[in-house]
Amino acid sequence: LRREQETGPLAGLRALVTAGPTHEPLDPVRYLANRSSGRQGYAIAQALAELGADVTLVSGPVTLAAPVGVHLVRCETAQEMQAHVMQALPCDVAVCTAAVADWRPETEASQKIKKNGDMRPPALSLVPNPDILAQLCALAPGRPGLVIGFAAETETVQAHAQAKRQRKGCDWLVANDVSPQTGIMGGEHNEVMLITPDGMETWPRMSKQDVAEKLAARVGGWWHDVQSA
Ligand code: CTP
Ligand code: CA
Repeated sequence: LRREQETGPLAGLRALVTAGPTHEPLDPVRYLANRSSGRQGYAIAQALAELGADVTLVSGPVTLAAPVGVHLVRCETAQEMQAHVMQALPCDVAVCTAAVADWRPETEASQKIKKNGDMRPPALSLVPNPDILAQLCALAPGRPGLVIGFAAETETVQAHAQAKRQRKGCDWLVANDVSPQTGIMGGEHNEVMLITPDGMETWPRMSKQDVAEKLAARVGGWWHDVQSA
């Protein structure tokens, strides 16, 4: 990818991508997690690198191989992901695809929680995790020039996504329906809507790689405009 980094449409662009789920420990052997595979984020990191960007991929636990030509930083919890993201700044573009756990257990037991003959299950007390995307959007100074969020919804996708874009303060938002019947979460395909300040587009169902390449090309258009401004 060395030649692309000198001559590709994203040459000179620094990109940060978050991907995968986070694992939030309950005790040394148990954690809270979600069904994210990391596929869409890894494909985006790869596509940006292939267009010449300098890409850091901060990834929660997944079973995917490291994309070629990308700086991969692995982590486990939302708090670790937040710290690695902040260390990776400054960047021109941030793409937050990670399915960050919204909550974590309030405390992590130092030893495996035992039944101990008590028939009552333990209560799960949760506390909120940092919102990495919202934090990136609110950075001043240091906000990336383009912040792209993802919205995983299971109902009324468009309305939820538009509200989410406003609430988070991101520039673009990629929304998808992750209801089990779509097979998107964990699968090879995606069907997304892209919401930008100019409006909303519905993209046809395509592979996650094709979504990644299409999004990377759009970032290329943005980068071109930035550089010729
Ligand atoms: N996100 C993040 N940090 C969090 C939660 C979410 O960076 N703690 C990012 C995700 O990477 C994604 C976007 O925010 O780009 C939206 O995530 P999503 O879970 O759809 O939205 P939430 O604001 O968490 O709302 P909810 O889960 O209630 O729909
Ligand atoms: Ca969430």
